[in-house]
Parts: sequence; structure tokens; C-alpha cells
Amino acid sequence: MNSTHAFHGGKSFEAIGEDFQHLDRATQVINADVLDAWFDPSPCVLSKIRDYLPFLVRTSPPAYSGGLVTAIAHARGIPLDSILIGGGSSDLIFTCLPRLASPLQKVMILDPMYGEYRHLIDALLSANIIRFELHKEEDFRIDADRLIEFVRTHRPDLLVLVNPNSPTGQHFPRREVLRLLDSIPASTWIVIDETYIEYAGREESLEADASKRQNFLVLKSMSKTYALSGIRVGYLVGVSSTIRALSKWIPPWAVSLPAQVAAVEALRDEAYYDARYRETHSLREELTSQLRRNPEITTYPSTTNFLLVEARTSAQGIVEMMRESKVFIRNCESMGERFADRFLRIAVKCRTDNARIVETLFKATAMTGARNSVSA
Ligand SMILES: Cc1ncc(COP(=O)(O)O)c(C=O)c1O
Repeated sequence: MNSTHAFHGGKSFEAIGEDFQHLDRATQVINADVLDAWFDPSPCVLSKIRDYLPFLVRTSPPAYSGGLVTAIAHARGIPLDSILIGGGSSDLIFTCLPRLASPLQKVMILDPMYGEYRHLIDALLSANIIRFELHKEEDFRIDADRLIEFVRTHRPDLLVLVNPNSPTGQHFPRREVLRLLDSIPASTWIVIDETYIEYAGREESLEADASKRQNFLVLKSMSKTYALSGIRVGYLVGVSSTIRALSKWIPPWAVSLPAQVAAVEALRDEAYYDARYRETHSLREELTSQLRRNPEITTYPSTTNFLLVEARTSAQGIVEMMRESKVFIRNCESMGERFADRFLRIAVKCRTDNARIVETLFKATAMTGARNSVSA
């Protein structure tokens, strides 16, 4: 595999126009191919941005997001010098991972897993990838004993986990992660991407632990769980010596002023977001039971704001058919070596949009199924 960029969702901008000609269509498309929050940012975030918009847009922000560092340190109980801010976690992945070990020769990832890591490690760093395979018969759960043994055998320079994992929605419990951390060789770096951890419970996060353990980093996106995907903000937590070394590579003003203000306000309103996570769990369970009425697909259990679905026919065929109705879901082929055009990932949306997703998906599976039986 060697390409300029990893494969991503976000195809709904085909309908809106990447030149934003048809932003008015934003409410007509369902962008369930990306995992953005279905809910709005906290009202406190929105009113701050609205009230000060001209100032926020024309003004240079604090160069290294000092106020946001303080807000995170306070909210999470993490020392100030253990936090590094970036313009979304993608920014930090590309800036920091290549600088952890030189050269990075062996990197272990989960299979399936969020595709950006594989792309970076394979296409850009040319390191060897060791895949820890997760099995559909086990709902893609991580078996801690098997993983610990695998790490001991392969002794990678870097192990990357996404927890809860995408596209599977499976959560690897904190107590098991701690067991893994205690068992891995001192020479192995471990990076845990906790983009969706709030859905498993804030107390499941290992971000505070990362400020105390050598060779361990936790990456936190504020995109999906704080509904800030468009504004771009994320952070990295590690011991102060690591954060100091990595911070040299972060340019000044990497995070826009609206993003810094929005993130600070969001962290002040955890009660609002906790209520949205509870709603998301109900919406996801409703969507799961509706999808499970369709014998043409298998819907896997999830703890997050998205679901993994296995189809009997071509996933790409289904994606393309649904796209005609402006409903966008994600073909997972690039996220798993053994997915073979059969797996789809669907973001949980509001109740009305979920109903439209179910309706278009059922039509698409019926049509692709009928097409297959004619050609058989
Ligand atoms: C697991 C995971 N990590 C990181 C990212 C990047 O998020 P952002 O750059 O918006 O913080 C995503 C985005 O979908 C993701 O799913």
C-alpha cells in the first residue's frame, strides 16, 4: 500500500460542494460516513463564539494555547507540562508519532483499526507493520492475554491502540489496558487513541496515567465527543520530558482562536455533554434493534456513537446506492485486511436521520441482493 493520503469518509461534501456553494444542503445530507457528533456543541460554546465572532476571526490566538492547556489540566487532573495541544488529533498523530523512536522499525496495530495509523506507518514511515488480528466471531473484542503474549513475542518499537476501537465500537476496559501497560517491554512505546473514550465513560480514560508513565502517550481528540470536528482541536498527554521534546515541533498558532475558545468553554460544561452521551447510547440501541430486523446484514454490538455492520453483498454497492439518496455511510475496506468489501460503518445520528439511514440501507440491501440473485 502506498498512497498520498489515507482513505476517509466525508463524501457528503460532494453534495455540498468543497467550494461550499451549497452549504444550504448541509441539513439535507446525512453524513454517517464520518463520526462527527449528531448533537450541537454546548450552548455556552455557541454563545461565546457568536458574541465575539469578528474578534475571534481577526485576532491571533495565544501562540501555544496556554489557556486551553490550563483548562484541560484543571478538568482532568493532569500537570500542565504533560499536555500538548494540536489542531485536531490528526495534527498530533502526524507531528509526534514519527518522532517517538528513530528509526521506527516495527509498529504494531490492531486489525481492523482506524486507517490513518496504517497509512502513516506504512506509506510515510516505511516501518514494518505487525497486525494483531481481531475476530468477528468474538465481535472484534481485544483478548488481553493474547495481546500481552503477542507484544512479548514481537517486541514492537511502537504499539498503537484505538480505544474504543473504530470501526468496531469495542471498548478495551481500563483495568485490562493497565495490565497490558505493566507487561510490555520498557523499549516499546505505546500510544492509545481515546477519541471515543467518553462513550465508554470518562473514568475509563488513561490520560492522567499517561502523565506518569514513561513511553506512554494518550491522544485525545475533542472533535467527536465535544462536537468540535469543524473547528479542529485535540491534545496529547505524556510525561513532561516527552511532551517537552515533542512540543518543539508544534508551530505557533497551530490552533485557531475560535477553536481555543470553544474548547475551553466545552470543558466547562461536562454536564451538557454527559447528557448527550446518554442520549447517544439510547439512539444507538434503537438503531441496532432496527438494523437487526434486516436478515441481509449482521450488526455488531458497540459502546460508541457508531455501528459496524456486515453485509452479504458488496459494501461498496450499498454505499453507492445510498449515496443517491444523500445518505453517506462508510465502506470499511481500508480499515481491515480481511474486510473484503463486506463491512460498513454507520454513525449514530438523531432519531429522524437514523430512520432515514435504516430505510435507505434496507432498500439498498434489497436491491443489491436482488441483483445478485439475478446474476447467480
Ligand atoms: C480513532 C480516530 N483517531 C483520530 C481521528 C482524528 O480526529 P481529529 O483529527 O478530528 O481530532 C479520528 C477521526 O475520525 C478517529 O476516528
